[in-house]
Amino acid sequence: MNILILGSGGREHALAWAVKQNPKCDRLIVAPGNAGIAMLAECADINILDGATVVTFCEENAIDFVIVGPEAPLAAGVADACRAAGLLTFGPSAAAARLEASKAFTKEICDACAAPTAGYARFTEAAPARAYIAEKGAPIVVKADGLAAGKGVIVAMTEAEALAAIDDMFGGEYGAAGAEVVIEEFMAGEEASFFILTDGTHALPIGTAQDHKRVGDGDTGPNTGGMGAYSPAPVLTEALQQQAMEEIVLPTIAEMALRGTPYQGVLYAGLMIENGKARLVEYNARFGDPECQVLMMRLGAQALDLMLATAEGRLDQVQVNWGDDHALTVVMAAQGYPGGYLKGSQIRGLEELPEDSRHMVFHAGTATRDAQIIATGGRVLNVTARGETLQQARDAAYALVDRIDWPGGFCRRDIGWRALP
Ligand code: AMP
Ligand code: GLY
Repeated sequence: MNILILGSGGREHALAWAVKQNPKCDRLIVAPGNAGIAMLAECADINILDGATVVTFCEENAIDFVIVGPEAPLAAGVADACRAAGLLTFGPSAAAARLEASKAFTKEICDACAAPTAGYARFTEAAPARAYIAEKGAPIVVKADGLAAGKGVIVAMTEAEALAAIDDMFGGEYGAAGAEVVIEEFMAGEEASFFILTDGTHALPIGTAQDHKRVGDGDTGPNTGGMGAYSPAPVLTEALQQQAMEEIVLPTIAEMALRGTPYQGVLYAGLMIENGKARLVEYNARFGDPECQVLMMRLGAQALDLMLATAEGRLDQVQVNWGDDHALTVVMAAQGYPGGYLKGSQIRGLEELPEDSRHMVFHAGTATRDAQIIATGGRVLNVTARGETLQQARDAAYALVDRIDWPGGFCRRDIGWRALP
């Protein structure tokens, strides 16, 4: 079959890498793609936020299956447009993607199905929001309701920080995303990610992972999109996964169906684990980035079969074949990230690295210039390896990192620390 993947990051490189290994895949196109993706698929520079453009492209290229990677096209209704045109599509409708696109909506769903999450209140004006913060005290969490490229959440350790966040949000710093604000109870504990495929009715867990949000070793410095991940996350035990399914995920899926907006695609549940219980931090309507890279490294070719079963509404008929393995990815970022960073620096040594079912460098922000790979984004490479143990996966990933000649880049040296002795 002919397959189109939408997106241009390390997540989409990993999806393309897994899909390409499946013999069902004939032609693979990624739009817009990047320099790494171009080594294994065709890339097409189209506007992936416009449903009509994507549908026309699919018709012209006889596409049989569309996989939507990032949240922006989902929130823009691109999966709806594809399905309306009769295209088999992996990814939720805009109405269902509100689980990521609106934090207030997610809270409403949690209320409706009694899913455990942080206590909260919602505001559209600054004065009552400020009064609420004064009443509750710090630590407290202030969130812009809408999509803010991962920047709309302020975990305020002091009241002053929380009040400043209110000023920023109602002052327009986050645009329309900040027109409504959710203020939440601060949850202590350890965070982990849980990934579930759902066709709207059936649900199939496909793995756990842990991300590293801070830029510096030991979880220090500013927040980023994620500096590395590993899978599985031992903190999410079988018992916790079961609790999360029963109390959070399945009730959410049922509530979405009940409202006439069934959720189809991957549901990414960000969980906080404290005292042996998981509570929901947030949902995302897509695979995590860089968590997808470790999930795909572990799932391989079967990822395509699972996504097809999701889109075709037959998830009850498939299962995941797990190896007893571990995967770890180290994000290499451009110097300066997550602040202003260097663009256009040259990366050498990639062509000499192994690329097989245990080692892969996924590209997140690269381009080719004069036959050389250059960095174009903040997060640039996802150096990924698999092993029988987490330690082996980590050693293999850092051995690859050390062979990459890129003075313009840096990475954390402690990915996996929470799960390693
Ligand atoms: P989000 O964009 O919702 O993922 O939030 C970004 C990060 O903020 C999460 O990954 C958590 O680390 C943190 N966070 C969000 N909500 C809370 C909360 N209620 N308590 C503690 N930390 C939170
Ligand atoms: N790695 C966090 C995310 O994809 O939202």
